[in-house]
Amino acid sequence: MSVRFSVSSVVLAASFVALAAGDYFSATVHMESLVRVEEDMAAAVRNYVRLGGLVPQELHRLAEGAAWLSDPTQVNQNSLVHNPIGAYLLIKRLNQEWANAIKTLPRPQEVFGDMYNELRLPSLADLEGCALALMRLQDVYNLDMRRIIDGEIVMQCRANDTEACRDVNVSEMKNRTLPLKLSILDVFYFGIVAQSHNDYYHAALWLNQTLAIMNANECDLCPDKRDVLERLADTYSKLRNHRGALELFSESYRIDPTNPYSKSRIADEEYYANLQGSYVWQLQRPDDWEGIEKYEELCRAGVRQNRAPRASVSCRYFRPSPYFYLGPIKMEVLHETNPVIHLFHDIISESEAARMREMAIPKFQRSVVVADDGGDAVILNRVSETAWHFDYDDPVVARLSRRVDYATGLSTEEGTAEAFQVVNYGLGGQYVPHTDYFEGAHITHHIHNGNRVVTFLLYLSDVDAGGSTVFPNVDIAVPVIRNSAAVFWSMERSGAVVPNSLHAGCPVLIGSKWIANKWIREHGNEFRRPCGLTPDA
Ligand SMILES: *[C@@H]1O[C@H](CO)[C@@H](O)[C@H](O)[C@H]1NC(C)=O
Ligand SMILES: *[C@@H]1O[C@H](CO)[C@@H](O)[C@H](O)[C@H]1NC(C)=O
Ligand SMILES: *[C@@H]1O[C@H](CO)[C@@H](O)[C@H](O)[C@H]1NC(C)=O
Ligand SMILES: *[C@@H]1O[C@H](CO)[C@@H](O)[C@H](O)[C@H]1NC(C)=O
Repeated sequence: MSVRFSVSSVVLAASFVALAAGDYFSATVHMESLVRVEEDMAAAVRNYVRLGGLVPQELHRLAEGAAWLSDPTQVNQNSLVHNPIGAYLLIKRLNQEWANAIKTLPRPQEVFGDMYNELRLPSLADLEGCALALMRLQDVYNLDMRRIIDGEIVMQCRANDTEACRDVNVSEMKNRTLPLKLSILDVFYFGIVAQSHNDYYHAALWLNQTLAIMNANECDLCPDKRDVLERLADTYSKLRNHRGALELFSESYRIDPTNPYSKSRIADEEYYANLQGSYVWQLQRPDDWEGIEKYEELCRAGVRQNRAPRASVSCRYFRPSPYFYLGPIKMEVLHETNPVIHLFHDIISESEAARMREMAIPKFQRSVVVADDGGDAVILNRVSETAWHFDYDDPVVARLSRRVDYATGLSTEEGTAEAFQVVNYGLGGQYVPHTDYFEGAHITHHIHNGNRVVTFLLYLSDVDAGGSTVFPNVDIAVPVIRNSAAVFWSMERSGAVVPNSLHAGCPVLIGSKWIANKWIREHGNEFRRPCGLTPDA
């Protein structure tokens, strides 16, 4: 049996704007709220049916299927969206299955009550964002594509990775509470999304995989073969694999000789294939940016370091001010100089971290609504949500600012330090290599309080895998350790910037990563950190 599944069936759901808000995938905390949306909708439907109401069979199936969500003994609800495959499947259910089923109801308010008017189901941008995020994770962590389809996250080190890298079967670490398998329609959809973003590398991988599954007769509900063949052929053509494209267009033409598209393309591909002589084509991942290999290698090494002991230079108790005499900082020295990188363990309490996270959520929500036609910009740039906490916002914020002052010896008063920047990463959210100090064109814009001297990066959560902060120039991967802080210096005492403080945030593989940054500026700290005769930190 063959069911035509194409972009059009997806676009149909996207036009259902009454419910679409967009941008859930940009922060894991928003995704967590969606688990409860599905739970509440399912409860409403079951309740309506119990009272004798009639609903379409599909809606009934969805409600029954989600029944396990309200059973806390079966599932930790948040962990469901902490897994990228689980997150994709949830968004798909809501954006496609639930949205379509609700559309068939003549009076949805009867079933859902007041809740209906407040429903904000994820948009097509969320679904695409999830698919693209999964593909990014696939690259960074070298995930086995077949395993992803089977619902498993299995990271493989690459041939020339450092010794610190070890293959990790992340699925083994977690009790799987539901089958996370992807269907062939998902595999095909990933190929379509990649293709529509001109990402022909991933399009080739996922469309070829779709075809492989079909050829092995491993699907009951298959996509239209001609559609798959033509999309893969078009993709190969873009990648200059003209022989591959020719073969696929020919196969599509054999299936349907009345199809003018394949017929017209065959002549073209033949022409280019002939020009290529004996050239042997190979699928190659494009180099997205300079240094990406080192960055990804450190990210992979970091997955294990989240749990295993690290090769740190030393550990000691540190009493930078009287505040820490009774309870010294447990300091791990990760790098001694150029740049100095320290990890301060247990520098904040569980409840302080919780307060910082909790205060951020309403601030995030104000910035979350994005026009539905926000398109690519939304998907590619919004992979985290940010909120700023000022000392006057809450006693906990003021207390933590003071603690940063005592720990660094630098003033954190307004004007000499920035407010706390709290970030919750979204699916596949990464922060490519950058320095925290300003240079070039950014200087004039940002520098009225002086440049950034030191970064105090608080980890407000654990993650299960991934998410390390990596320093590619000095081969350091700082693990995400709840309630600790990575502290690194961007400027020498001499006032010179430290280019080796270049760092990046790896995407989270499993979990929800929360951080709070405090950047301390030069101005106001001239006497706290005077210039030295030597440029030491
Ligand atoms: C690892 O090997 C690949 C080819 O196998 C090469 O392109 C890449 O530069 C190497 N990466 C590093 C960090 O040496
Ligand atoms: C990974 O772990 C899961 C869960 O324990 C297991 O079912 C699967 O076979 C493992 N996969 C590999 C490749 O080791
Ligand atoms: C998995 O679940 C079983 C039973 O519910 C429990 O005993 C076990 O500790 C769990 N394992 C992990 C890794 O959470
Ligand atoms: C396409 O899939 C086949 C298996 O059906 C595999 O042998 C081949 O290497 C794949 N090609 C690409 C470019 O992924």
